[in-house]
Amino acid sequence: MELKLRTVPKEVFTVMSLNENFKHLWVPDNVLSLVGLGTSYLLEFFEFYGEKISVYYDKFIKNTEYDDERFPIFISQEKRHAAAHKNLNVFIAKNYSQPSREKYHPRVYDFMYVAYKEFVEPIVAGIEKDEQAGKTIDSLSFKEALKTVAIFETQVCMASFSFYENVLANGKLEYMLDTSENLGVLYLLAYHYAEEMEHCSVSIEAYETIYKEQLWSKEQLKQYDKEVDILLHRITVATLYVARMLNIDVTVEQIQSRLPNYRGLVSEGFNAKEPKIVEKISNFVQSWDNEWEPMLLAKIKETIRRSEA
Ligand SMILES: [Fe+2]
Ligand SMILES: [Fe+2]
Repeated sequence: MELKLRTVPKEVFTVMSLNENFKHLWVPDNVLSLVGLGTSYLLEFFEFYGEKISVYYDKFIKNTEYDDERFPIFISQEKRHAAAHKNLNVFIAKNYSQPSREKYHPRVYDFMYVAYKEFVEPIVAGIEKDEQAGKTIDSLSFKEALKTVAIFETQVCMASFSFYENVLANGKLEYMLDTSENLGVLYLLAYHYAEEMEHCSVSIEAYETIYKEQLWSKEQLKQYDKEVDILLHRITVATLYVARMLNIDVTVEQIQSRLPNYRGLVSEGFNAKEPKIVEKISNFVQSWDNEWEPMLLAKIKETIRRSEA
């Protein structure tokens, strides 16, 4: 699938109203709206991590037999996602905490600091150490880094399917257009997840090409539920902070009832290249580009015109 670099129209941020008129209900469900906003922080965090790892991809893999020309486009898509989400994330956190620059990550919010220390720091420090010892592809930390990127990308791809099925497909978008109080956030997430589906296979294939082994092997699949638990925990934490920053009361139980279903979706050898998955992805992405995006953007423009009238 060809990867496109889509631009978020400026009207999306106008209608998002990152000011005293901000409304968090981008879907007509309080808890789901909060989960979407919590996820926004997680996505931004991982996009910067992916960008950091891509620096080593360029050093170790570029111009070798393993080089994949789609990899830099995948990273460019991620950089643009991070830039778009940053506006929203900074706004929500404005009276609470601003992200700090850490040694291996430029923007760590306080509630993501544990994830930074537990996971980003050891991996990147490990690559640095291995690099000093003259290692490149044979660095176990680099291998681990590519694996973590591919695992996260698989999970985001699953979240994208869930989003498209529950929010856009089968006439659901029409309902959202009538009930959403923040079409800008709806657009941001929908655009983002379209590109996530589009590049779903890239990091998995990169890993499999370089290391000549399946990412989602039987062994790795055994770890899947554990990986999902960690991810869901991180989304829960970020969502709790978002709720607090927006001064909305929510319980952990409520959040957990709205988390996307990740379990049982990934089977052995999954690399997003099975014909059924490819078809699903291309249907969703084409529907977004040709049908849903124009509808949503038209509604956004209409909303802005009406608010100015
Ligand atoms: Fe992304
Ligand atoms: Fe991605």
